[in-house]
Amino acid sequence: MLTGKRLLITGVVTTDSIAWAVAESAQLHNAEVILTSYDRVRDLTQAAAEALPRTPEILTLDATRPEDFAALADQLAGRQIDGALHAIAFAPREALAGDFLSAGDEAIELAFRTSTTSFARLAGVLAECAPANGASLVGLDFDADGRAWPVYNWMGVCKVALQATMRYVARDLGPRGVRANLVAAGPLHTRAAGGIPDFQSLLDAYDAAPLGWDPQDAGPVADAVCFLLSDMGRAVSAEILHVDGGYHALAAPGVSQAVRRAG
Ligand SMILES: NC(=O)c1ccc[n+]([C@@H]2O[C@H](COP(=O)([O-])OP(=O)(O)OC[C@H]3O[C@@H](n4cnc5c(N)ncnc54)[C@H](O)[C@@H]3O)[C@@H](O)[C@H]2O)c1
Repeated sequence: MLTGKRLLITGVVTTDSIAWAVAESAQLHNAEVILTSYDRVRDLTQAAAEALPRTPEILTLDATRPEDFAALADQLAGRQIDGALHAIAFAPREALAGDFLSAGDEAIELAFRTSTTSFARLAGVLAECAPANGASLVGLDFDADGRAWPVYNWMGVCKVALQATMRYVARDLGPRGVRANLVAAGPLHTRAAGGIPDFQSLLDAYDAAPLGWDPQDAGPVADAVCFLLSDMGRAVSAEILHVDGGYHALAAPGVSQAVRRAG
């Protein structure tokens, strides 16, 4: 599905990262993968990279540093990039849980810059490196409806803004053949998820997903991302694809898997 494609994948920090599952699936579909990482976690990314079927090159990108995006574009100059994954999110704890109204401006601004505007910056890099026949940018969302969860707070706001950012990117880069989409994934056990206080309350809600939901398996999300990165998704842009076991369609939690199994 991805033979001949060179993909830039951000956000690999452990083998639990959604981005790691995407990199693995992409390699298994014959893509060439390039990762990005940054100082604080580079060693972790290196270790995770070595666990992939083929150890990829790792370039530097701290999403809070505009100069890193420019340097990344310079490093990629002359190399065609057919697709990119934006799998970057961070919010200080005060912006993730507790009193929504008392989170400080600095924490909110850092969450927004890291998790939302970086999508547009990455789109700029991809636009510079995209071949004439276009490219595909995919980002990762949670609960595309933007509802208020028991936790998640300002990250929820960042994700809604990410949806709008993705649509503006799709509008502006579409004429150059660059597509932009999001995959709205159900909750998965990753390093970032471990930073969300009471993450269990999000997991509990997904017990009602019609298809069920395995929070340990990022594979279904990775495969959906690979579809959007591939030519099979060539007419899909400005879309949010839910990969959540069907949870998003429920108006009320309904019957849990456990109750259903018990008959
Ligand atoms: N885990 C979930 O339940 C879930 C569900 C839906 C969407 N997502 C989204 O998936 C994406 C990936 O998260 P994950 O769950 O795989 O966790 P993860 O911790 O494996 O990945 C988050 C990544 O963001 C990177 N990052 C943080 N600050 C950065 C910065 N300044 N510059 C560059 N990179 C930075 C981290 O290094 C890490 O690689 C995020 O956008 C997250 O919101 C996660």
